[in-house]
Amino acid sequence: MSEPAEFSHRATRRRHHRPLAGIFWFSAIVLLALLALAFPPDGQQRTTLAQFFGRFHPLVVHFPVALLFLIPVIEVYALFRRGHALRGAPAFLLWIATATAILGTALGWLLARFGGYKGDLVITHMWSGCLLALLCLLALLLRRRWEVDGLYGLGLLYAPVLLLAVGTMVFTAHQGGQLIYGDNYLIEYMPPKLRSLLGLPAAGATLKSAPQPPSTPGAPGAVNREDSKQDTKVSFYEARIMPALDRTCLSCHSPKKTKGGLRLDTYALMMKGGDSGPAVVAGNLDDSELYRRITLPHDDEEFMPGGNKKPLSATETKWIELWIAAGASETAPLSEFSQAPAPPEKHGEAVAWAPDYRPKLDEAKALADRLGIRLVARSQVPTDGLIVRTASAPSHCTDDVLAALAPLADVIVEAELARTRISDKGLAAVSSWKNLRHLDLTATAVTAEGLRPVAELTKLETLNLTDSRVDAAKLPPILTQRAGLAIYPLTQDDVGVDVAAPAASAR
Ligand code: HEC
Repeated sequence: MSEPAEFSHRATRRRHHRPLAGIFWFSAIVLLALLALAFPPDGQQRTTLAQFFGRFHPLVVHFPVALLFLIPVIEVYALFRRGHALRGAPAFLLWIATATAILGTALGWLLARFGGYKGDLVITHMWSGCLLALLCLLALLLRRRWEVDGLYGLGLLYAPVLLLAVGTMVFTAHQGGQLIYGDNYLIEYMPPKLRSLLGLPAAGATLKSAPQPPSTPGAPGAVNREDSKQDTKVSFYEARIMPALDRTCLSCHSPKKTKGGLRLDTYALMMKGGDSGPAVVAGNLDDSELYRRITLPHDDEEFMPGGNKKPLSATETKWIELWIAAGASETAPLSEFSQAPAPPEKHGEAVAWAPDYRPKLDEAKALADRLGIRLVARSQVPTDGLIVRTASAPSHCTDDVLAALAPLADVIVEAELARTRISDKGLAAVSSWKNLRHLDLTATAVTAEGLRPVAELTKLETLNLTDSRVDAAKLPPILTQRAGLAIYPLTQDDVGVDVAAPAASAR
């Protein structure tokens, strides 16, 4: 090839013109974009080696982030005489930023494609990563033009493209943050005053839609907001008023539909009111249009909710009354409203069976696929927990499978493990499923000794040991004597059945 010679000749003439490098980096980005297009992240988990590399994504992406902030600073500084020595630095830094942006995007794609990620946010994040790499490269090329040609010609575009790259970087990084920490990570602890000043929804209002990260018990994401009684920091507005308005009024009073010019989806906008003025006047029920509307006779034209929608319950109306009378505060804690009626109990149960499983749904699906078991919601209510089902392929379920379910430990409420290949070792994993109510160990190889840790499951209601290797006489008394726990077949005939196991090799 004679080309390289020609280029190197030119390169000596024009020191900074090196199109080959540009072509190389550009091809890398195009290749990456093609891969991403052909094999987008689809929520399927794949080989682990790719995931191993993918996990370096968060580490690598800090390079372009930091460098892109630094480069404009150096550029400006280099304009002054003191900064002269740094004049060559931005080109070098841009080069590193470009390379790491490409590497970071590639690793991000590995992480997403092989780590079971999916969804709009991941896809936009991926494409803005590609765009960022492209803009870095473009800035790098333009920077060279700028050095050579000065402000004439293409060099003039350097500054705008650099700033565009910085902007894209901020956007991309923010999305990455949302992916890891959830939608409202930045503003979660914003002081309520600042929040309402900026017209942001009240804390908690957006929690429902936040794509929360897989949470470990004790992490912020694991806090069950519904179960807010213990959480003294939750405000009455957030726990009672917002959910009531959300269910009954937002269909007509939100950004999508703003009837009467009134939005009720944020505290600030509710206080601002609609076409006829403020909807809520703190401490004054008579002047609070919202209260007037919900307490009119149901057949009144002005009664809210309009459109024959299901009205607020008496309890909810009472909450709104107490809340407005007490000053309609956004932040006054739930504990200040001890006189307020309690929320109706769901299913006649005062407590949820488990924390809301929705934040873990994606993870649960990925695990079920990978482990060859089924995870089924017990009901429509997300705090009713998940059931582990193995009946379609019990032989797939081993001790390792149970151990792998650890991330879902607190949302599993029933485990149907009949005829699986689990042993006592697996029961150690099960004993950390603290919300477990029903455990079926029919025809498994578990023994009385192995059941000891199961005694830690204080919510357990039924334990089925039919055809297992359990010697009933050896069962720990802490299990056999616990009130509210039915052990089958023990409880059925009330004799110590020594269940010799025909299922010794439960395959
Ligand atoms: C099916 C649609 C619909 C639903 C649901 C609904 N509204 Fe309305 N709302 C309207 C319409 C239409 C208007 C404007 C006409 C009017 O003033 O009656 C309105 C007006 C209002 C106004 C007066 C706004 C102003 O400044 O003029 C208030 C206050 C209000 N709604 C409160 C509520 C509350 C509280 C709920 C929930 C309990 C609710 N609305 C549910 C349709 C609805």
